[in-house]
Formats: sequence, structure tokens, C-alpha cells
Amino acid sequence: MKIIRSIKKMQKVSRSLAADGKKIGLVPTMGFLHEGHLSLIRKAKKQSDVVITSIFVNPTQFAPGEDLKSYPRDEKGDVKKISGSGGDIVFIPKAADIYPENYETYVSVESITRTLEGASRPTHFRGVTTIVGKLFNITRADIAVFGQKDFQQAVVIKKMVTDLDYPIKIIVAPTVREKDGLAMSSRNKYFTPEQRPEAVCLYKSLKRVQSLIAGKGILTTGRLKKEAEKEIMRHCPSAKIDYIAFTDGETLEPVKKVDRMTVCSLAVRVYGVRLIDNMKLLK
Ligand code: PAJ
Repeated sequence: MKIIRSIKKMQKVSRSLAADGKKIGLVPTMGFLHEGHLSLIRKAKKQSDVVITSIFVNPTQFAPGEDLKSYPRDEKGDVKKISGSGGDIVFIPKAADIYPENYETYVSVESITRTLEGASRPTHFRGVTTIVGKLFNITRADIAVFGQKDFQQAVVIKKMVTDLDYPIKIIVAPTVREKDGLAMSSRNKYFTPEQRPEAVCLYKSLKRVQSLIAGKGILTTGRLKKEAEKEIMRHCPSAKIDYIAFTDGETLEPVKKVDRMTVCSLAVRVYGVRLIDNMKLLK
């Protein structure tokens, strides 16, 4: 497996892979990889000839006061895991090369970045689409795989690809969970062993909503939201709910009644760690 750190070198390698007719798969990550990330690499491998995994803790998607500095890092461990999952190339650029001192170009998707995560983190998606757009350009990817875990991010990237005519197929892979249902996340490592069991409150709440729909036929999102809140507080009494939203899975518009397109997404602070999760409510 190759490790590439220079943008120029990555461009050269991608150009020659494309010239050889190879299908390039890209899995963008911020590192500290877990099974969720590795599932994306395995999925990309099935649908492409060469898989590039990028590791870059992207400063522009963190707001001042967020965890950019403390974001967990483990380059050595990540490289081993990528190689064990069938990755071919790891691209690890430097922040100073991606964003040199006089950098001034950003990609910004408009209305769908203002709700949900975007309402709480107004500059976040501009950072995400800028780095992902740059990675698409540098790697010449034919396909790119993202996780359902960051549902809005996948919707926003699909919109960017459509609007900016990127010749790239976006694949969204299912959320990988811990045994108790907690969605895997690099941020889960912030919990002490005593705090960790309560982090399951997001998953439990989504499952409670699903069971109220299936068992009692409750479809009104106002009622479901109240039940979701109760279930969060039952599992984690000190939780601070940022939002619980019922929206269309593509337009991200809020809905009053659940249908097959509805996704429930939520952001909750558990012992100061901001967790997100989501679930499609009807099969
Ligand atoms: P990061 O949080 O490292 O996640 C990288 C990819 O892994 C994203 O597509 C994310 O949705 C996916 N992922 C994370 N946890 C997952 C889980 N439990 N199951 C399945 N997939 C999971 O998302 C980012 O980085 C950044 O915003 C990035 C796209 C790399 C741009 O900087």
C-alpha cells in the first residue's frame, strides 16, 4: 500500500491511473479510523479498481471553540487498518498545502446547509464541501463513499456533485454501530467508561420512535418528538438536546407526518460530547 503526502504526487498518480483506465474509489476521512470507516473502504473496493483513503483533519469545518486541536489522531494505526481493509493508497496531505496562507476559494451549498447541523454549526458545511471538492479534483475519483451516519453531509455532497457537474458517483453506506447500538464515531473515545453506557440514548430514542410508528401507528412528528425526548432523558438524565428533527430524506424539509422518505435525525450533548445519529423511519 502506498502513502502519499504531496498533492502534486497524488495528482500525478491519479492522472496515470485514469490514463490506464482504472476506476478510482475515494473514501475521505479525518482519521482515527473505526469499523464504520473501514466498511466504506470495503464498499469502495467492491466498486472500483483502486481505493484512495484520505486522512485529513480539515480545519475549515471546525468552528473556533470546537475540537480541532483535541480531535483524536493515530496515523500509524490508521494506515494498518486501511491496508487490512483492502485500501491501495492513503493520501495524507498537510494543512499548509491544502490551505496555503493566501487561500480564498470556498465551495458553498446554500439552503440545505442552513438546517439541522448547519443551524448549530453555520460554517461547518462550507468547510466540508470545500475539502471534499478539492479531494475530488486531486484524486479524479470515479466513485466516492460516505456514511449514512452523517446523513446531511451525504445529502449536501450529492447536491454539490449535481450542481458542479462532478463526474462522480456518490455511494452512501449504512451506519455501523457498537453492540449496544451507539453509532461508531471517533468522538466516542472522549467518554469515560462510566459515561459511555449513557451515550446509547440517541439510538434508543430512534428505536423508540420506530417502534411507536410500527406498533401504534403514530405518524404525527409532534408526538413522536416528545416521546423521543423522553427516551433520551430516560437513558441519560444530564443530556442536552440540540435538535430532534423529522425531515424529508432529500430536501431536508421538516415534515408533520412520517412517510417513507422521512428521516429522524438528532444531535445531543452527552457529558459535553456532541453526538449525532439518524434513522429512516419506515422501510
Ligand atoms: P469522518 O468523521 O472521519 O468520517 C469519514 C466518513 O466515515 C464519513 O463519510 C462518515 O459519514 C463515515 N462514518 C463515520 N462514522 C460512521 C459509522 N459509524 N458508520 C458508517 N460510516 C461512518 O465525515 C468526515 O470525516 C469529514 O466531514 C470529511 C467527509 C472527511 C470531510 O472532511
